[in-house]
This record gives sequence, structure tokens and C-alpha cells, in this order.
Amino acid sequence: MSVAAPTSVIVEPARRLRGRLRVPGDKSISHRYALLAALAGGTSTIDGYSTGADCGSTLRCLRELGVEIAKTAKNDGTSAVTVAGRGLGGLSRPARMLDAGNSGTTMRLLAGILAGHPFDAVLTGDASLQRRPMRRIIEPLERMGGRVEADGGRPPLRIRGGSLNGTTYVPAVASAQVKSAVLLAGLHARGVTRVREPAPTRDHTERALEAFGVPIDTGDGAVAVAGGSPLRPLALMVPGDPSSAAFWAVAAAAVPDSDVTIEGVGLNPTRTAFLDVLSRAGAAIEVHVEDNSGGEPSGEIRIRSGSLRNLVIGAAEVPSLIDELPVLGALAAHGPAVEVGGASELRHKESDRITALAAGLRAIGVRVEERPDGFRAERAGVPQGGAADAAGDHRLAMAFAVAGLAGAGPSVIHGAGATDVSYPGFFSALDSLHA
Ligand code: S3P
Repeated sequence: MSVAAPTSVIVEPARRLRGRLRVPGDKSISHRYALLAALAGGTSTIDGYSTGADCGSTLRCLRELGVEIAKTAKNDGTSAVTVAGRGLGGLSRPARMLDAGNSGTTMRLLAGILAGHPFDAVLTGDASLQRRPMRRIIEPLERMGGRVEADGGRPPLRIRGGSLNGTTYVPAVASAQVKSAVLLAGLHARGVTRVREPAPTRDHTERALEAFGVPIDTGDGAVAVAGGSPLRPLALMVPGDPSSAAFWAVAAAAVPDSDVTIEGVGLNPTRTAFLDVLSRAGAAIEVHVEDNSGGEPSGEIRIRSGSLRNLVIGAAEVPSLIDELPVLGALAAHGPAVEVGGASELRHKESDRITALAAGLRAIGVRVEERPDGFRAERAGVPQGGAADAAGDHRLAMAFAVAGLAGAGPSVIHGAGATDVSYPGFFSALDSLHA
């Protein structure tokens, strides 16, 4: 679903932030559970499925591929999804184009699955997704015997699926989406498929495959899956999304006298580097692991404000912080200077997250030096507040809101409706924390 995002929201400066809250289900895990459930031999249930539009796009595409899915909204604001799996290789030829909306994960992971199905399918998306690079998945899928056409390496993708052969692939970029597309194609391929990443990325696909009963080999610095392994249906629980929790973590760390607890949030170590960065800056953070459903640790995070030091984030940390870099940049509005390097991947997200982040932070009153592979953000006194444009990007809308909390006066976030992509209810949650 394309998200119309014309809404403008006013963010008031914060005196302090206090409270306990839950965030919507993890976006990355929700996509994977839905996709794998569709390939399982029976019906799976997924509790806590992300209420964001992106994960809705995955469900919509799966329905077009013949998968019966029921989604129920629950009283506590979460949603539960039941997926009638079609078995490995059991998806049906779609009657029309598959629309991944704003969701790169839907497009790239589904492309891996469809490359191994014996029919043609076209995957498209909204204007932002149509600008995003797809050669990174086309190249390995073609190497496995798949045929994928895309003008200039951008969507729409026409996938002429067929039989695939396993391969060993070393991606040029550290990307969980690329790794996952190749492993999901590998499930449908003859022999073993192996991915050796240039740097570790989120490992939800590996954990989910194991939960669905597919053996994964992680020896020798690579991840390997054997083609043809059947998936067993499951009852699953999606933890809260740490990348959504990161907005509150940064805000609570930065706004004096704050104390915020986030319950039921994912604590997979490939996603929690932002907590290490905030501790390094001087925030007081407590983490309690309480659950390990589906092999995904989850629990509670408590963040209290501290007097924060300047931050330097380099290439080695970037893959594990990729979605949190915009909000860590917004931290600069509150005091510490923030310098990020080795992060040119930010230019290939839902927006060019270097240029659009710099523009929005400047509008609020932060000085930003834009660099080819990152930025340096530093405030000169208390920012005045101003009007920032989310540029159609959910994470920028939320990052600018966090920056706006530091203003001497209110800020306006234009295009704030983009938050629906991953965090419907973000602005009401923010209201609930103003104490
Ligand atoms: C995701 C991986 C990351 C991340 C995106 C979700 C995933 O993208 O930015 O929001 O679910 O695999 P890349 O793999 O392209 O870095």
C-alpha cells in the first residue's frame, strides 16, 4: 500500500519524558514470519504482527500469490495474523502486478522466493521504492539460474521464475535484505546456498528458518541452507520493534530528567547496537531479557537521561545501526555533536537519508555538514525549532520529532503520516510521554 503522507504535526518542546509503553511488532521479523508461514505445510499464527503499512504490503502480495490470510486487530492495538501455508514452492501465479508499496524488504525477499517458482511475476512499488537499487539481488538470483528483468536495475522487477541451483555468494554490501533474498531463493534451489557477508547484519531470517524447522549452518563465517527443506507451521509471537523503540531511547536519553521503559521489545543483539551507542554517550540503560520465542530474545529496556558526550560512529558499526542513524543524528539537536561515517548506504533507503536528514535538522536549527558517506551534526545553542519535511520517509518523520523536542519553540513535521509505514500511533505515544 502506498502511504499518502500529507499530514503535518506540531511537536512541542519537551520538559521531560516519563512512562512505560510498547511499540508495534518488529517490521523485519513480521515480514519473515509471514513469508515463511506462506511456504510452510499448514496453518501458522503470528501474534503481535506489525501494524505498519510495510508489513501489510507483504500480506497483500502473499494473498495475490494464492495464500489465504486472516488478520484480526486486537484490543491492545496489536494484530494477529493466520496464514494458511502452501508448502515450499506452492505459491500460485499472480493475476496482477504485486505492489510492495514503500517496502524494500517485501520486494527483495519476495523476489528471492519467486525466482524459485515456475511462473512470471512483476513486483512494483511506490515512487520511493521505484528509485531503490535492485541489482544487488538481481545479480545473485541470476547467478543461481533465475531470470529477473529491471530497467536500469530499478523496480518494477519482472521475475521469470524456474529451477535454481545453490551458490556461494559474497555480497558487495552488508545487507540483510540481500542475504535473505539469496537464502530464500536457496530454499527453492538444488544443493546448498551459502552467503558470506562482508559484515554481520540482522539475522532474523536465519533464526526464523530454524524456528520453522529448516537447518541452518553458520560455520566458517557463512550462513548456509540446503534446498528443499520442508517448513513446519508454527504459532509465533513478534516482539516490539527495537528500531521503533530507538526513537524513545534517544529522546529519553537526551531530554533532562526523563525515565522511559519500553516493554516486550526485541533484543536480538544484531539490532541493539543503538543501546551501546547511547550508553557510550552517557545514558543510563537497563536491559532485561524475558522471552525467547521463535529464537528471538525480547524483554524490557529502561532509559534514563544523562549528561551526554559527543558521538563518533564509524563504518564498522554502521550495518548494526543502519535504521537508527537518523534518530542518532537527531540527538545533535539536544547537545552532543554526532558524526557518522562509512554510511553511504543511507542514500539508498526510503529517501536519501543523508541529504534529507541534513535538510530537516537544519530546518529545526541544527548545523549539519553533509558528507558523501555520512554527516556531522552539531547545534549552536538551543535550536529555535522550525518546519522539517519528512521527505516521504517514516524514520525521518520520527527523527525530526525527536529533534523538535529540543527546540526553544514548537516544530512542524510535514509529511508526518509517513510514520504509518512502521509506527502507526507514534505521535500519540509521544503525547503520552510528555510529563
Ligand atoms: C531490513 C534490512 C535493512 C534495513 C531495513 C530492513 C530487513 O536493509 O535498513 O529497514 O528487514 O532485512 P538493508 O538490508 O538493505 O541494509
